[in-house]
Amino acid sequence: MASSAFSRDNGRDAGQRRYGAAVRPDQLVDDTPLLTAIRRCDILVPEYHGQWSAVEWRKGEPWYGNYDAIVNFAETHGMAVRGHALIWEKMTPDWARAEMLEKRDWRTVTRHFADLLPRYSGRIADWIVVNEMIDTEDGENGLRRTSFQRAYGKDYVAMALLTANGLDPQARLMINDYALCYDNPVDEARRNALLRLVENLKARGIPLHSVGLQGHLELAKGAIPQARLARFMADLADTGVKLAVTELDAIEADRHRPLAERDAAVADHTQSFLDVAMDQPAVESIVTWGLSDRHSWLQENAPDTLAAVSHAPIDGKRLNRGLPFDADMKPKRMQVVLNDAMRIQRA
Ligand code: XIL
Repeated sequence: MASSAFSRDNGRDAGQRRYGAAVRPDQLVDDTPLLTAIRRCDILVPEYHGQWSAVEWRKGEPWYGNYDAIVNFAETHGMAVRGHALIWEKMTPDWARAEMLEKRDWRTVTRHFADLLPRYSGRIADWIVVNEMIDTEDGENGLRRTSFQRAYGKDYVAMALLTANGLDPQARLMINDYALCYDNPVDEARRNALLRLVENLKARGIPLHSVGLQGHLELAKGAIPQARLARFMADLADTGVKLAVTELDAIEADRHRPLAERDAAVADHTQSFLDVAMDQPAVESIVTWGLSDRHSWLQENAPDTLAAVSHAPIDGKRLNRGLPFDADMKPKRMQVVLNDAMRIQRA
């Protein structure tokens, strides 16, 4: 899969960084401007249809229709797929939480992994094995108190990586987290906790190939501390992992200014973040968490009331404008910034 991802006509050569976006299966069926933008991606990530609660809401009755739709589409168009995510507390079905806490039997996790990894072996190139495991405020030693951590102890991240590697030795394995980019005590503590975890995993030879920084930017958190972020990325890379920006988008600080000013603020902030990321050779890919503001999880009423497949007129001024395209698929300045950063040929 990975090699064919580079053969597409997106203006980049093999070896260059890959660009991608989170998608929903209902976006893949129509001949729309959104689909045109999706087809310029190298990597697709199921926005939420790949989560455990989405594939196995009821125990023992997994349903892969949505996952298959995304994987099949990507395969047809020569794109790679990133599995998101095998373990994520928020998207773990209630029955699984209860079972893990009651039995403390790792086979609950193994069965879930065994449903997915062999099924998509060779078709899903990389997997986020554990999502959002860091918590320095209410966690224990920097690790979030999840059902997994409670049931299996602090080494569950290593156990998950080993189990995933056993089931699909070819797959590249990732962990992924948020709130790592700003100059404040929480982000600083989270950076240190993630770095400690990665150092520990790599020192023990646990199969971890890449670390995802989600990159949900928040303009209200102030400027990107570029030197600090660069050092953090370098420290991670020094442990031997590759890096990825996995869920890039931006939460605006002020939605009451003229649109051009708002879009410039988002673009400048994104630029400042990407300048650091693109300077770090270990960063292999940039994925935005969606493409159009119409389908962004950052909207107050997302995702249900902003009908996912509707192309009806929408008041774009009311929306957060944190993705490359507006609600009508007009490219914004953020798209120019991304294009320049990724060297995608201008459409
Ligand atoms: C969000 C999706 O965008 C929403 O549609 C869904 O309802 C909840 O999850 N961090 C992650 C992503 O790792 O999976 C989240 O995506 C956004 C925050």
